[in-house]
Amino acid sequence: MKSKTDIQSLYFKYVETTQKAADFNNAAALLDWDQEVNMPSGSATFRARQSASLAEYAHHLITDESYGKILQQLADTTFLSESQQANVLLSLEDFHKHKKLPASIINKLTNQASISFQAWTKAKKKNQFSLFYPELEKMIALKRQQCDLYGFQTHPYDALLDDYDKGITTTRLDEIFGEVKTHLSNLLEKILQKPQVEDDFLYQAFDKENQFSLSIEILKSIGFNFEEGRQDYSEHPFTTSFSPQDVRITTRAEQKNFKGLIWSSIHEGGHALYEQGLPTDAYGLPLGMPASLSIHESQSRLWENCVGRSAAFLKYFFPLAKQKFSTEFEQVDTSMIYKAVNKVQPSLIRTEADELTYHFHVLIRYEIEKALIAGEIQCKDLPTVWNELYNKYLKVVVPNDTIGVLQDVHWSHGSFGYFPTYSLGSFYAVQFFEAAKKENPTIEQDIQIGNFQLLLQWLRQKVHRYGRRYSSDELSKLATGSELNFSLFMKYAREKYSAIYGFDVN
Ligand code: CO
Repeated sequence: MKSKTDIQSLYFKYVETTQKAADFNNAAALLDWDQEVNMPSGSATFRARQSASLAEYAHHLITDESYGKILQQLADTTFLSESQQANVLLSLEDFHKHKKLPASIINKLTNQASISFQAWTKAKKKNQFSLFYPELEKMIALKRQQCDLYGFQTHPYDALLDDYDKGITTTRLDEIFGEVKTHLSNLLEKILQKPQVEDDFLYQAFDKENQFSLSIEILKSIGFNFEEGRQDYSEHPFTTSFSPQDVRITTRAEQKNFKGLIWSSIHEGGHALYEQGLPTDAYGLPLGMPASLSIHESQSRLWENCVGRSAAFLKYFFPLAKQKFSTEFEQVDTSMIYKAVNKVQPSLIRTEADELTYHFHVLIRYEIEKALIAGEIQCKDLPTVWNELYNKYLKVVVPNDTIGVLQDVHWSHGSFGYFPTYSLGSFYAVQFFEAAKKENPTIEQDIQIGNFQLLLQWLRQKVHRYGRRYSSDELSKLATGSELNFSLFMKYAREKYSAIYGFDVN
C-alpha cells in the first residue's frame, strides 16, 4: 500500500515523462511546420529522418513498460484529485491502445505511407491511377491488420474511426449520413431549381498582400493572439501548435479568388483559437489536448461558416474589405457579397466545395473507405466507383482521376476514418453556435460590430478548457444539452439557404 506522498511523487513522475514525450512531439511538429513553410526543397531527406527520430523517441517514452506500471499504480489509487485521475485514466487507455500495435507494424505503416505518398504524387501529376493503386492496396492490407489488432465489435472500420473520434462507429455514421442523404439532398434539390446567385465579382484580380493583411485584421478581431502565434503561407493551409503559447496557422493566396484566403484563414483561425484556449497547466497531458478531430473541426467550421459566412459578420467585414479593394468592390453591396460567399453549386473538388454540398464529398469517401476496409471493393476499381458516386450524389461528371479519385492526400498516408470528422465537425459547429446564441442573445449584434468576445468566452468555457476530459458527444451534451443532433444543422441550413435562394422554408 502506497502513502499519499508516494502517490503524489509517482504522479509527478508520470507528468514528467508524459510532458517530455510532448516536448519531443512538439519539436517534431516544429520541424514539420518548417518543412511546409520555410524549408529549401532539397532538404527533405534528412528532415524526414530528424522528425521521425523525435517522434520515435516520444513514442518509446509512453509505451515503455515502466511507464505502464506507473499508470497502473496510479489508476488503482484513490489519492488523486479528479483531474489527476482523468489524466491518468486517459493516458492508461492510450498506453493499452499503443501496446496493441507491435513496433513491426508501426514501421511497416510508416514506410508504406512514405512509398504510397510518393506514388500518389506521381499518379496525380500524371493523371494515372495505375501508378497509385498497387501501393494503396498494400496500405489497405496493413490497415486491415491494424483493425484486427485494435479489435472491433461490429465493423472493422470502427477500429480506425476511433483514432480520430473516440466512440464514433459506422452504425452512428450510417444514421447521420442517412439523414444527409434524405434531408440535405432535398434541400439541395430545392436550391438548384432556383436561379443561381451572382458571384463573378469574387474572381477579379485581388492584390495578394492586401488579402493577407485583411486576414490578419480579422484574425486579431476574432481573438487570435499574435503574441503567441503567427500566420504564414504554405501550399495547403493547416494549423499546428507546439504549446498553447505557440500556435501556427498557414494560408494560401490566390489572386483571382477572393473566397480563398480570407475564409481559409478564418477556418484555421478557429482551429488556432481552440489550441490557444487549451489549459497551459495541463501542457502535454490529456487534459491539455484537444477532445477529438471532430471537435477540432467544429471550432474551425463555427468560425468559418456560422460566423464568417453570416450576414452579421459581413456587415462588419465588408466595409473593411471595401477599404482595401475599393475599385474591385465599387458596385458590390453587403447583401450581394453575403449571397456570393454562400453560393451553393455541386462541384468536383472537396476542398473547394460550399457549406452544403461539402457533406456529399465526405459521404462518398465514407462509403468508399468502409467498403475498402471491409474488402467489399477492390482498389483497382476505385476510379469507376468514385465517378459513379459523384454522379449519383452530386450529379457531376468526373473528367479525370487527378481531380477525381486522386484529389486527396489522406489515403496515401493511411488516414482512413479521418474524413467523417469534417462533417461531424460542421454539424457540432452549428449545435455549439446555436447554444452560445441562446445563452448570449447579443452575440449576433456583437458580431455586426466586430465584437467576438462573448462567443469566444463561451467556447473557452464550454469547450476549450476541458481538453480531452470528455468525448465529443459528452462534451456536446454538457455544452448544448444534447449529443450530436443533425436536425439542428438541417434547421440552420434550411433557414439560411431558403432566404438566400428565395423559397419557402418548409
Ligand atoms: Co479544418
